Amino acid sequence: MLSRAAAAVQRLVWTRRASSWGHHGGVSVQPVVDEILRQTPRGPGAHVLDIGCGTGTLALPLALQGTTVTAVDVSPAMTRGVRALAEEAGLNNLTVVTASAELMRFPDQSLDAVISNYALHHLRDSDKQELIRSAARWLKPGGVLLVGDMMFGRGATQQDRRIIADKVRALARKGPGGWWRIAKNAARFLLRVQEMPLPAARWVRLLEEAGLVEVTAAPVLAEASIVRGVRPGGWAVNSGVARD
Ligand SMILES: C[S@@+](CC[C@H](N)C(=O)[O-])C[C@H]1O[C@@H](n2cnc3c(N)ncnc32)[C@H](O)[C@@H]1O
Repeated sequence: MLSRAAAAVQRLVWTRRASSWGHHGGVSVQPVVDEILRQTPRGPGAHVLDIGCGTGTLALPLALQGTTVTAVDVSPAMTRGVRALAEEAGLNNLTVVTASAELMRFPDQSLDAVISNYALHHLRDSDKQELIRSAARWLKPGGVLLVGDMMFGRGATQQDRRIIADKVRALARKGPGGWWRIAKNAARFLLRVQEMPLPAARWVRLLEEAGLVEVTAAPVLAEASIVRGVRPGGWAVNSGVARD
């Protein structure tokens, strides 16, 4: 019930922000996008699930390389946009689904990779845990889970405090609009509604508890890391890492 309510809020928020995120994301989180793409199994024969696909930042380049992609987002405005771009590009290997991450289901051992960029911090912690457990089951043996996101806590460590201070300074420089966003984001962050990042170490534990192996966390930006884990047994297909 709470998961449904949280997903409904995200649907409203991201329907409003659909036209602005593509630009913002393209500029500030591009290194995270590039690194996730580099590590994702791709090409014909690989089936990848992108959770919280937004404007198709990950899904579209992968599909253009021949990967079979299922892209899921809770916001119909986002999925409409990605569908339109896929049609324009003549892609028939990209399936775009409007659904909340908390409620979607896939057959066990059906995916070569589950990936997500800057989306899972919007999920409640119990939903993150449930989703990671499910994603581990959906992966084929040797399949890979990649979560790129802002990863920090609420100020318990010096690193948390530095990241938060940098974000506040960057917004403050934007003037009254930025100050408004500081107030809004601080409330969401402290009350843990909508903005619910976890530190990388917590993400590592979630993946390990879900039975994934070779779990690593790599910082990409001051605020963002990529956590990666592999379903035991078997070989990943067309891994970008192995090829490079
Ligand atoms: C910050 S944007 C990132 C979009 C994209 N991954 C990118 O890198 O450009 C977050 C996205 O997550 C989606 N989202 C938020 N909560 C979600 C949920 N519970 N289930 C599915 N998608 C969700 C939003 O609609 C939005 O498109």
